[in-house]
Amino acid sequence: MSGATYPSLKNRLVVVTGGGSGIGAGFTEAFARQGARVVFLDIAETESRELEAALAHLSPAPVFHPCDLMDVAGLQSCLSQLVADHGPVDVLINNAANDDRHTLAQVTPDYWDDRINVNLRHLYFAAQAVAAGMRARGRGVIVNLGSISWHLGLPDLSLYETAKAGIEGMTRALARELGGDGVRVVCIVPGNVQTPRQMQWYTPEGEAEIVAAQCLKDRLQPADVAALALFLASDDARLITGHSYFVDAGWR
Ligand SMILES: NC(=O)c1ccc[n+]([C@@H]2O[C@H](COP(=O)([O-])OP(=O)(O)OC[C@H]3O[C@@H](n4cnc5c(N)ncnc54)[C@H](O)[C@@H]3O)[C@@H](O)[C@H]2O)c1
Repeated sequence: MSGATYPSLKNRLVVVTGGGSGIGAGFTEAFARQGARVVFLDIAETESRELEAALAHLSPAPVFHPCDLMDVAGLQSCLSQLVADHGPVDVLINNAANDDRHTLAQVTPDYWDDRINVNLRHLYFAAQAVAAGMRARGRGVIVNLGSISWHLGLPDLSLYETAKAGIEGMTRALARELGGDGVRVVCIVPGNVQTPRQMQWYTPEGEAEIVAAQCLKDRLQPADVAALALFLASDDARLITGHSYFVDAGWR
């Protein structure tokens, strides 16, 4: 499949959180193939180094910065160092998350904090860290990753779904707050995407059930999600902000 080329993305500085594996790796690769300067943050050292090596032939090649997004002070210093090294951020892809399963009865206050922190808090503080530079230049795009899970009410994910619902609200709020300075904030809502981590949850029968519930009978790949992100981050989407966009093959 050969995708679209967006001239406006060339040379843009794109930061991808959780860009070392799964859908995030798809963003890292797709933006790099557009000629963007991509820096990806992750805690998964091995996968991230492997991705860096696999994409080293691209020009400019994506750069991995180890960063634990659970530590807000560490994230802030990582992003300010990144700006010092590479210049102001043009596009932030708030992608990292963790969808560990739990039931209502299992959740403690500490686990609540842990799940909200890994799935919601860092997106807000990453946006805060890049917003000033974007506002000063009168442009910038923040792409948040939501999830279809809460729209469908999937089981055993209540904290993840709470956080993901919050991300859609945050998208609308920040789009309003930053829009006056030309900064766009959008949300992508993936359906079930075939990633190494997702494959641990699904049997072939489970996957077949998902495909049966989709209007389109194919499995989503990270590149399908990245294709939407490229458009939304490009200047072609210059008046698109404050909303969420599904890429789910019509799952319902
Ligand atoms: N895969 C799907 O089917 C699906 C469906 C709906 C929504 N999403 C959303 O898409 C995004 C990507 O999903 P995915 O399936 O690729 O997830 P994934 O779990 O496969 O990858 C997440 C990445 O984030 C990194 N990460 C996690 N915690 C981190 C931390 N504390 N600090 C730094 N990095 C950290 C991981 O190391 C990993 O590289 C997420 O926001 C997810 O909620 C995915």
